[in-house]
Amino acid sequence: TEQGDGRLAAGKGVAVCMSKEEADSFLKEVFTDRRFGEGRLLVEEFLTGPEVSIFGALVDDHYLILCPARDYKRLKEGDAGPNTGGMGVYSPVPIVTDEEHATMVEVMEQTVAELAAEGITYSGCLYGGFMLTKDGPKVLEFNARFGDPETEAVLPRLGGDFATALLHAATGCLKPGDVVVKDAYAATVIMASGGYPGSYEKGKVITGLENNPALVFHCGTKMVDGRVVTAG
Ligand code: GLY
Repeated sequence: TEQGDGRLAAGKGVAVCMSKEEADSFLKEVFTDRRFGEGRLLVEEFLTGPEVSIFGALVDDHYLILCPARDYKRLKEGDAGPNTGGMGVYSPVPIVTDEEHATMVEVMEQTVAELAAEGITYSGCLYGGFMLTKDGPKVLEFNARFGDPETEAVLPRLGGDFATALLHAATGCLKPGDVVVKDAYAATVIMASGGYPGSYEKGKVITGLENNPALVFHCGTKMVDGRVVTAG
C-alpha cells in the first residue's frame, strides 16, 4: 500500500500474507484503522527467496555496476515478523551464483537501454531490487536512489574518491575507475525502538556511541541537552 496522499510508506506498507486471516488483518489496518490515511492497495504475485539489491551508478546510457547487498526486511530473528524498512544488510552476497548475477546485470542493462531509448537522461544511482526465486532472479522494484540500509554496507566497500564519483555523475562524465569495489566485507544491523514498525516511544537516550569501533549511522535520532535520543 502507499499512503493516501501518494507518498510511499518506507517499506512498511507491505504485508506478506500467508493466510486469509493475515490478509484480512492487514486490510483492516489499511482501510479500517487507516494507518496510511486513505490507502490504496496493490496485490502482487507472491515471490519467495533471498532478496538481493544491486546498485548501478549511471549517467545516460553509461553505467557502472556496484556491489550487491542482501537486505533483511522482516523484524525478527529467523526472518520472521512484519516487514520493516530493513533490519540489517550484508555485502557482498556469496549465495548469488554467477548465473544469477549475470541475469541481474542483464536486467539492469536492459533497463538502462530502455531509459536511453525513451530519451530519458538519467544521472545517479539506479537500484534494482531482486528476489532469487527458484525460477531465477525476479525484479521486485527499481529505485532512483541508494538503498536503506544497504548503503551502510555498500559504501564502506567502495574505494576511490566517492565525492569525485558523485561530481562526475552529476556533471555527466562518470568513468570506469571512479568507483572501485574493494575485496572487503561489511554488515550493518539496525537498532530500533521496541514497537517498531508500529508505534513506539520516542526520546529514549542512546548510549554506547562514543569510542565505538563500528561505523554508526543515524536515522531518526536527535540531540537533546548534549545527549542523543531516539526521535522516530
Ligand atoms: N532496502 C530497501 C530500500 O531501500 O528500499
